[in-house]
Amino acid sequence: MLEKILEILYQNQNKHILPDEIASTLGINENEVKKAIQTLEDDGYTLEFTPNSGYKLKKSPNLLLPYEIKNNLETDYIGHEIYYFEEVDSTNNVAKKLAEDGAAEGTIVIAETQTRGRGRRGKTWLSPTGGVWMSIILRPNIPPAEAPQLTLMTGVAAAETLKEECGLNVGIKWPNDILIGSKKVCGILTEANAKFSTLDYVVVGIGIDANVDPEIFPSEVRKGATSLKMELNKEIKGPLLVQKFLKRFESTYNSFKEGNFPEILNEWRKLSKTIGSDVEVRKQLGKVVKGEAIGITQNGALILELEDGSLRKVISGECLHVKK
Ligand code: BTN
Repeated sequence: MLEKILEILYQNQNKHILPDEIASTLGINENEVKKAIQTLEDDGYTLEFTPNSGYKLKKSPNLLLPYEIKNNLETDYIGHEIYYFEEVDSTNNVAKKLAEDGAAEGTIVIAETQTRGRGRRGKTWLSPTGGVWMSIILRPNIPPAEAPQLTLMTGVAAAETLKEECGLNVGIKWPNDILIGSKKVCGILTEANAKFSTLDYVVVGIGIDANVDPEIFPSEVRKGATSLKMELNKEIKGPLLVQKFLKRFESTYNSFKEGNFPEILNEWRKLSKTIGSDVEVRKQLGKVVKGEAIGITQNGALILELEDGSLRKVISGECLHVKK
């Protein structure tokens, strides 16, 4: 109901609209309209009201509220079920619990801030307000070994969204960091759960530093981070960015399910800033592999040409681009 009322208010943004007009359009009574308006005001919307002409929307709070995201969302199933939190430990944690309890494919969990956001390789993911911290529950019918492909697929969807919708020159650093220049703006954490060698569910977590001010990060994070607001010099509309991302994500994921991963991987290659670069990959136990990144395998492993000319596949690790 809230999303329908919001839609009417957005459609009439330059004029007032009477509560009984809203009520009759939606087939509800005026009291229900007033209650919904009160909820909107409690959520931070500013409305003007005059008894003669009714309500006029003056200001939206730019929060990732489900009814904002669902209003005119152009997807068939991704984001149709939304769990929203002002604050949560980690959206991936919540999504995993929901998936265990049988949540449908496409369900998303989204938060304004995370108190224990998780990054890859056990790192902390700082998640202040202004960012998009979101997890998507998927149930693809693929062998568990292919789950890492979903990370690459999500990277392509995220990079293309930022490129097309924000006009930014983004690239991907292997395996899944979305960069603007050499600074990270978005990270992806995929967590899969398999039962008896079949995949039960996958949770894809995406963190976008949208309206975050990197100045608030500790210096070691700050020097490698940027945000959309910083790059564009203006605040971006969070719910709109989420809608655009979900739409692109759904079409890329549908294509993935139809067996088009090789084509998606080609898109990844085009967006990659790693292929063709000299890299250092830091693996566990302090091991470092150095070489030129020359390609990526179907399973997402990076192919390095080492100094002695031999080839080496690296499955996981932290990749640094080093200057030639
Ligand atoms: C990385 O680059 O290290 C991955 C970062 C992933 C962060 C997102 S934010 C939403 C979801 N919830 C989490 O705790 N992590 C992911």
